[in-house]
Amino acid sequence: MARLKTEDGTVLRDLAQIQPALEALGVQVKPWPTAPEVADLLASPSLDDAQKERVLQGHDRYFEQLQRDAGYQSRDLIVLHDQVPNLDQALAKFSPAHTHDDDEVRYIVDGEGVFGFTFPDGQQAELLVEAGEYINVPADTEHWFHLTERRRIKAVRYFSGTDGWVPNYTGTTIRVDPLT
Ligand SMILES: [Fe+2]
Repeated sequence: MARLKTEDGTVLRDLAQIQPALEALGVQVKPWPTAPEVADLLASPSLDDAQKERVLQGHDRYFEQLQRDAGYQSRDLIVLHDQVPNLDQALAKFSPAHTHDDDEVRYIVDGEGVFGFTFPDGQQAELLVEAGEYINVPADTEHWFHLTERRRIKAVRYFSGTDGWVPNYTGTTIRVDPLT
């Protein structure tokens, strides 16, 4: 279940409360149940390319919906865990505050990750999203991303173009205590 921690230390654990709290950002979080037929693959920390494709196909009903409703063109599966070589180096690209020219659209199918945000009034918050949750961070929203101490996530990434997901670093200091 998603968890939102604001700068004053308030923690919200209910999507019905979290969704309105993110309204000023336009960030959407939705429960999207994962496919039981690929549960065995989701339980495995690492996957080969064929297994990744099976996981993607198992969840393609959501992709088809995004293609129809919002013109999304492609998807891939990101698989991160403690044994991934150069994991910290890969994550360091996303942990400073940044924006993108396109929405960042992710569907967590295993594990968990944390998105941080800066609100229009300058306040910051961190949101933990986990397996069975979809998140859309709108284009130009200042955000950052890190893993929790579990250091494990599988997430489908949906793209509407080829280069709009490149991070534009903003240099903003992250003040909130990280959700772990
Ligand atoms: Fe990002």
